[in-house]
Amino acid sequence: MKRTRGTYDRLVRPLLFSFNAETAHHLAIELLQKASHFEPAMRLLKSFQPSSKPKTLFGLNFPNPIGLAAGLDKNGVALPAWEALGFGFIEIGTVTAKAQPGNPKPRIFRLPEQQALINRLGFNNDGADAIAKRLAALRVSARWPSVPVGINIGKSRATPLEQATDDYLYSFRLLRDFADYITLNISSPNTPGLRELQEPEKLSELLHTIGKQAGPAPKPLIVKISPDVSDAELKAILAVCEENGVSGIIATNTTLDHSSIAPQLDQAGGLSGAPLRNKSTAFVREIAARSTIPVIASGGILDAESAHEKFQAGAQLIQLYTGLVYRGPGLIREIIEAM
Ligand SMILES: Cc1cc2nc3c(=O)[nH]c(=O)nc-3n(C[C@H](O)[C@H](O)[C@H](O)COP(=O)(O)O)c2cc1C
Repeated sequence: MKRTRGTYDRLVRPLLFSFNAETAHHLAIELLQKASHFEPAMRLLKSFQPSSKPKTLFGLNFPNPIGLAAGLDKNGVALPAWEALGFGFIEIGTVTAKAQPGNPKPRIFRLPEQQALINRLGFNNDGADAIAKRLAALRVSARWPSVPVGINIGKSRATPLEQATDDYLYSFRLLRDFADYITLNISSPNTPGLRELQEPEKLSELLHTIGKQAGPAPKPLIVKISPDVSDAELKAILAVCEENGVSGIIATNTTLDHSSIAPQLDQAGGLSGAPLRNKSTAFVREIAARSTIPVIASGGILDAESAHEKFQAGAQLIQLYTGLVYRGPGLIREIIEAM
């Protein structure tokens, strides 16, 4: 553990943080993409791998319960590297039916004192066609990861909300064969109107339509929810998910509640990291108490203690994003060693 954390804290993070957040992100992704094609680099990354903590859920075998959260590898370019770093599962996306550039830059902001990020990326991604092609090429290579791969899909910005179901369906049909599970992202704050898909009628239509298209070997369907829904709204979401046989819930996406952020630091967008921790844990606890649908926790996991808190609250699996930015991949090992 010392070796990875030490190197990340001393060298990698200062280097990455010397660039603006989006440039640093591109640099890291590009390096991991290159590493994915280069056997000696893969061996080096694997030398830091944690011991296994196997878990079976949704009929899938996870070597450990710690996953890569959606948004880090939106285009699915570095799957072998994420596995080599020790993730027990990898969620790529959000992928939209149409390729799109996202919002104007700058659109990712670091708040190091708060161990937080604010982003308003707006689903910048290569689109479902290009990503399906990329995954097809990876599959015929010998490099497809052996850990479960989830594909997170969302609505294209240009598609009106009334046509959202068809938009999701387009990506679903193209990508389901590559996925061990599919996540429906209905909770990003950066696509206007998207969160309205959490309303019972709209969610019901979406789940029903996707469910009908599941094919002969249906993949587990997971719904990613916002931490900004009310108690009554959460209740309604759970009822609709149960009626439609949803396999899991990811709690939670980023928050629009910036009350913990000083006005001079604040930016428009979704807040993640430490300030989200308690809120997302409360959601995990609430869902685990009210429903039998398994919960994947996401939000403010920055050390072994915050990871433990999610499992204590009832999470079956957890996902990292902001913690990986501030703590590096040694965080995976730190969490596993403390389990
Ligand atoms: C820069 C950035 C981009 C993100 N993009 C996505 C995305 O495309 N799809 C999605 O479902 N979640 C996205 N997320 C949300 C994360 O997957 C995660 O749910 C959230 O950040 C809370 O976890 P954390 O506190 O560990 O970061 C993004 C988060 C960040 C910080």
